[in-house]
Amino acid sequence: MTNFDLEKIVDTSDEWITLRTGIKERRIAEEDIATSDLAYKAAVIALKEGGLSSDQIDYIIVATATPDMFFPSTACIVQDKLGAKNAGAFDLSAGCSGFIYSLVVGSQMIATGMYEHILVIGAETLSKFMDWTDRNTCVIFGDGAGAVLLGTVEEGKGLISSCMGSDGSGGDMLKLPAGGAKMPATTETLNKRLHYIKMEGREVFKYAVRYMSEAVENALEKCNLTSEDIDILIPHQANLRIIQSIGKRLKLKDDQIYINVDKYGNTSSASIIIALSELVDNGRLKENDIIAMTAFGAGYTWASAVLKW
Ligand code: UT7
Repeated sequence: MTNFDLEKIVDTSDEWITLRTGIKERRIAEEDIATSDLAYKAAVIALKEGGLSSDQIDYIIVATATPDMFFPSTACIVQDKLGAKNAGAFDLSAGCSGFIYSLVVGSQMIATGMYEHILVIGAETLSKFMDWTDRNTCVIFGDGAGAVLLGTVEEGKGLISSCMGSDGSGGDMLKLPAGGAKMPATTETLNKRLHYIKMEGREVFKYAVRYMSEAVENALEKCNLTSEDIDILIPHQANLRIIQSIGKRLKLKDDQIYINVDKYGNTSSASIIIALSELVDNGRLKENDIIAMTAFGAGYTWASAVLKW
């Protein structure tokens, strides 16, 4: 869906969206496609590229803010589709930071020596929860998924540092108010359009820049690196202006930052793994490259990770 398509739906323009967000187009899942369908497709590709069969997976973690249902978890739906008969499965909900949270959890499960292969998926169909009459939100988000297979790597490689945080006092700034235990679905909640994503964009913006930058600094410090050591930073793709501000705060050069928000919009938990997957497909990652990732989202939550490729 392009910005021009959106011009026909709400009072917006390609010029405004491009200038304020850097987004030109986003992917929207078809009506009968749910988050688990995108997650499953990504998982199949990851398994094929990793040369593993589904019964070799020990755990499936799906990072998502837009699960198929409250329960069963989307991870269990994916487990069944894959026929991953030896795998435990659960969803991880940490807003747009979900993928990094899941990566850290999965990596630690392997680091303990208790598990061998963990499938971490970031998948969202945000379009299903979008108020297509609200120009503050519907121009920003998009659908997508990506998957990574975690396994043992040689000492000093893989995840070498991370930082995670949360501040629940920011919860009202980005939320899906109704449909949960606090506000179960009623005719009134439906009429008030409370089953859609609500966001105070300007507030979220401020905190996103601050916490995504600080999270990278913290994680770098923990592993005795500086921003100069970063070969590629993969920031959560929420808004080009947020990414540029982070780049400035961390004193990064343009070629140290990966940007694809123009093509996909904000895909929440899927954004970082989609970017990582593109970097791999484009042959841009070399052995021993230092990759930094950072994200901020609903909760508030934030997270960063430093990887040696
Ligand atoms: O994924 C993690 C969480 N999410 C984020 O990190 C998103 C963070 N926030 C943002 O990216 C930005 O705040 C937005 C893109 C959501 C909004 O950009 P902004 O520069 O903060 O705009 P604003 O909300 O301050 O609105 C500025 C003006 C307003 O008009 P007035 O009051 O100045 O006349 C809005 O009504 O722009 C108007 N506006 C629009 N105009 C055309 C808001 N949305 C649109 C739109 N098209 N789609």
